[in-house]
Amino acid sequence: MKSFVTAFVASVLAGVGIVNAASPKVIYPNNPLIWYHGRWDSGYGSWWPGTGFNLHVENLSSLSLQLGPNTTSPSVNIGVSVNYGEWATVAVQNGTNVIPLSGNSTVTDSSRPTSTVVRINVQAPENNIYLEKIILNSGARLLRYTPSKLAFQFIGDSLSSGYLLPNLIDGAWPIQISDYFKAEPQTTVQPGACLTDILCWGNVHGISYQFFQLEATSYYYNANHNYTTDWDFRRDYRPTHIFFQAGTNDNYWKVNATEIHTQYDEFFTKLRRLYPRQPIFALTTWGYPNEDGTYAYFYEGVLEDVVANKRANGDSNIFLVNTRGWVAFDDVYEDRTHLNPQGSAKLAAHLEDWLKNWGLQPQAKWPTTTC
Ligand SMILES: *[C@@H]1O[C@H](CO)[C@@H](O)[C@H](O)[C@H]1NC(C)=O
Ligand SMILES: *[C@@H]1O[C@H](CO)[C@@H](O)[C@H](O)[C@H]1NC(C)=O
Ligand SMILES: *[C@@H]1O[C@H](CO)[C@@H](O)[C@H](O)[C@H]1NC(C)=O
Ligand SMILES: *[C@@H]1O[C@H](CO)[C@@H](O)[C@H](O)[C@H]1NC(C)=O
Ligand SMILES: *[C@@H]1O[C@H](CO)[C@@H](O)[C@H](O)[C@H]1NC(C)=O
Ligand SMILES: *[C@@H]1O[C@H](CO)[C@@H](O)[C@H](O)[C@H]1NC(C)=O
Repeated sequence: MKSFVTAFVASVLAGVGIVNAASPKVIYPNNPLIWYHGRWDSGYGSWWPGTGFNLHVENLSSLSLQLGPNTTSPSVNIGVSVNYGEWATVAVQNGTNVIPLSGNSTVTDSSRPTSTVVRINVQAPENNIYLEKIILNSGARLLRYTPSKLAFQFIGDSLSSGYLLPNLIDGAWPIQISDYFKAEPQTTVQPGACLTDILCWGNVHGISYQFFQLEATSYYYNANHNYTTDWDFRRDYRPTHIFFQAGTNDNYWKVNATEIHTQYDEFFTKLRRLYPRQPIFALTTWGYPNEDGTYAYFYEGVLEDVVANKRANGDSNIFLVNTRGWVAFDDVYEDRTHLNPQGSAKLAAHLEDWLKNWGLQPQAKWPTTTC
């Protein structure tokens, strides 16, 4: 009898529990309200650093990501920015991951339901996440995310990927200038890659090939997905401005100046076919700063000449951005070329000024307003 009563009470309580604790809201990866950016494969697997998605959610109090078994093991660092605040680093893995939302929110509290923007990206070039479910609190409602009118496409190598920075791409100048201008970034950048399509630092292809592919060159080291496929550029949120910087690895791997001249020229021709009207900014490298204030340079005058020829031949929408002198010995790591956090901030500030002088102004606000 006693055990019957206990069981009866327990089941009543369980019933009450089910009524009160409404089940969490599950969002599947094919939900059109998820604003994907970067390059994703057909299994909702991410490729390239900076690839991710943005969510706009009303009454958000908890967020978990359920990731599939092909997610890079043992874990993947993702950047999480709440309401366009600073990027926090969160390690996620195969299975269910609670994403802290307590980061640096720009929204002040209010008694009415507020909406929250969460931006998520993968930091390291060789990492993939496979999205299976997004799990929100029961009362949350997924809303449409309206992207910025500005969209920056970055094409480059480790000098653009934030190589050696603790938070990699999220500390790198492309993300910094995108946040500054309130632009949607797309960072198709591959550390170690040459522009020329040759094997460089383990990259089985150069940028001149891999940029047109869905997968980053890390596909070659991925037993679950050891192949590469053409990227369908119609899937991109159309970029408004193109940033390019490459050639440092070509120099290391002994591509000569005549050859890199041809490589630059042909690559810009291909970019122009893809992006007929967008300004293309070709950044020189900053060289190797020395302690005494001098610099070591390579391919001197080559990129300058290629850009001048393009302009002389009628493409007035390609611009040389000379970064020489923008960073010094204190701004780079011991390898004398990769920017440290101070150097990244300096480079970003110089580039922001350059772009403002050129005529680009930051958006007044992000179109998906919060609160
Ligand atoms: C992934 O996680 C699930 C449970 O969440 C587990 O069953 C599976 O063995 C894991 N797979 C790998 C490859 O770690
Ligand atoms: C919040 O901002 C502070 C200061 O800028 C920083 O030290 C901290 O790491 C940030 N926290 C998160 C979660 O982003
Ligand atoms: C917000 O969500 C919580 C549960 O997560 C729910 O109890 C509450 O009623 C929701 N508020 C509104 C205004 O929808
Ligand atoms: C990927 O395939 C190539 C042959 O095409 C092979 O040499 C390489 O070892 C493979 N990588 C993995 C991780 O299996
Ligand atoms: C995960 O990898 C296996 C091969 O190991 C593959 O058959 C499967 O399609 C992959 N899953 C996804 C979602 O890509
Ligand atoms: C430069 O490299 C190209 C391609 O490898 C080669 O054909 C050419 O002879 C080289 N030129 C010089 C001056 O070394």
